[in-house]
Amino acid sequence: SKDGKKNRNTVLLSLRNGYTIKTLYCSMNDCDRSYLSAGKAVKLGVLWIKPYAGMPKEVLVLYSSKARYRVPREILFWLTVCCTLALVAVTIAVIALSPKCLSWWQASPVYQIYPRSFKDSDGDGVGDLKGIKEKLDHFEYLNIKSIWISPFYRSPMKDFGYDVEDFRDIDPLFGTMKDFEELLATMHSKGLRLIMDFIPNHTSDRHRWFNLSRTRDPHYEDYYVWTDCKPDGPKPNNWVSIFGNSSWTYDEVRGQCYLHQFLKEQPDLNFRNPDVINEMIDIIHFWLDKGVDGFRMDAVKHMLEAPHMRDEPQVDPNKPPELVTTEWDLHSDYTTSQVGLHDILREFRAQMDIYSQEPGRYRFMVIESYDYEEVYKTMMYYGTKLEKEGDFPFNFYLLDLPQNTSGAWAKHLVHLWMGNMPKGKWPNWVVGNHDRTRISSSAGQLYVRAINMLLLTLPGTATTYYGEEIGMENINVTASQIQDPADPQRSPLQWNANMNAGFNDKTNLTWLPLHPDYETVNVEAQMKDDGSVLAQYRFLNTLRQSELPLNRGWFCYVHTDANVFSYIRELDGLKRAFLIVVNFGKESVVTDLSSVRELPDELKVLMSTNKVNDGKVFPKSRIQTEVGEGLVIQYSTNTRFNPNHPEECYISEKACYLETIGILYKCQ
Ligand code: GLC
Ligand code: MG
Repeated sequence: SKDGKKNRNTVLLSLRNGYTIKTLYCSMNDCDRSYLSAGKAVKLGVLWIKPYAGMPKEVLVLYSSKARYRVPREILFWLTVCCTLALVAVTIAVIALSPKCLSWWQASPVYQIYPRSFKDSDGDGVGDLKGIKEKLDHFEYLNIKSIWISPFYRSPMKDFGYDVEDFRDIDPLFGTMKDFEELLATMHSKGLRLIMDFIPNHTSDRHRWFNLSRTRDPHYEDYYVWTDCKPDGPKPNNWVSIFGNSSWTYDEVRGQCYLHQFLKEQPDLNFRNPDVINEMIDIIHFWLDKGVDGFRMDAVKHMLEAPHMRDEPQVDPNKPPELVTTEWDLHSDYTTSQVGLHDILREFRAQMDIYSQEPGRYRFMVIESYDYEEVYKTMMYYGTKLEKEGDFPFNFYLLDLPQNTSGAWAKHLVHLWMGNMPKGKWPNWVVGNHDRTRISSSAGQLYVRAINMLLLTLPGTATTYYGEEIGMENINVTASQIQDPADPQRSPLQWNANMNAGFNDKTNLTWLPLHPDYETVNVEAQMKDDGSVLAQYRFLNTLRQSELPLNRGWFCYVHTDANVFSYIRELDGLKRAFLIVVNFGKESVVTDLSSVRELPDELKVLMSTNKVNDGKVFPKSRIQTEVGEGLVIQYSTNTRFNPNHPEECYISEKACYLETIGILYKCQ
């Protein structure tokens, strides 16, 4: 009715009261017409209300319902919805299509610190945790992120820390728990990861458990492997220790023999006792709670022994039993790699996985097991598709390189791993550790650079024993100086040409003598020389981490002979590729790769271990290398080698490069 309209207009006008009432004012006729023609109050606004700040809601509604506002608004709304959905879809697709990023233990070499020998901070002649903390810049310089520190648990040091008296304490020789926590915190703040040694097979004979076991405390009675024997009678069986002679020792307190697969001061724990497994898991938790990033699992193959304790078969059945004294005399069928071992390790792994769920906090597990030519035994530590175990077992085959330095031998050793590694797993390479002669001493200085080049250009994680980055050699230890047969490769790290090579700058003590070459072979001197072993190590390690073909690409054998071992690293979709040519032989040679169609005719040396050859250009038919020389040749190609030679090529996880937008994608 007319009254109704009037009321409506009255309402509107009163709302405007005190604001812009003039702009709203209209004749009743206009209002009438509009209202009547449109049949809706909304239409009124079209005629006589302009938007203004502070507009009340009701008026705003009148405005916003007009088509010229409503339609763009709806378009914008649906556009936003569609874009958001598209963004989510693209994100999911990119994640699904991208290959996994390399984890920290894949991206950097693992550097082994032997804590006695790295850096002595307090002047007692033995390296310590504070010393390690003082020297962390070394790793920044080298671009190394993963540090494995050999044991620093409380220990009587019969096996230099591999005989643990207390798994939850630091030996005073190395410092305190506070020193450890400070070291770990500093390492983490620098982006470094700490891998600890974990020693499940045995404890020290001074461990509390052993004392409780030999006194037959009911809970601890079966913590070790005991069996009846007479003090002067025959041993329970013919089993021998890794360090030689019977692995049984009579204990007067308990009146029985206990098993020790290493020193007699290192009694073997009894892993058939579930309480022992639980103790070990608690210790794993203890250190993971403190924040350590991984464990190197020591001597795991010895963890279980056959309960029947029968004699092991002799390698030479005719050898008189009294001459059977070393591990090489027996087939260690009943003392190593027993059924059940992998279940225990998988349980350890599962515990570590619980701690790996936090983003960026993956806990790494590397296994130590020397299985020599029984490579399939080693490979089992990778676990299966369904059950994870070690991230990798240490690959010790390259330790044998010095036995027969030649291109063919190098390839043979590399292939022992590559040809047997389960599909999709990550390889790794060790050329030295605290148990083995330094490679520069066994292979000779001539090959040190080439070996480092091999280590850093093969696919997978390199392990570098302290000092290898500067080419340190074994020392000569006199009979009176020797404390352990492995001492020659454990001499103090040579930091500079000052007193004690900078290892101990407080007193004149060093637990082992320094190598006399320290005045020239030391970190400081080599940092100043861009052709040094150290500078080359750093260059190759940095190259490896910045170049996709080297850090995760294909690895393909190209050529091998008595002198030269040569391979390609390439990535599908990426033009840049690398050819590595290393001369491990006894003579300078010219290698003809003209039959390799995938290589360009001219090859330019990016880096040679022989600095004067940097930048040299070779025709591919005449690549020259001196004895011990390694070349990294970078080239550009559209024709990848791997599709034509699938039998010669390996990759852990296939990835292709999309050059147009510069990303990696899965390309199985
Ligand atoms: C490992 C260690 C070695 C030690 C042995 C016993 O092989 O590398 O040094 O003696 O285990 O723990
Ligand atoms: Mg054992």
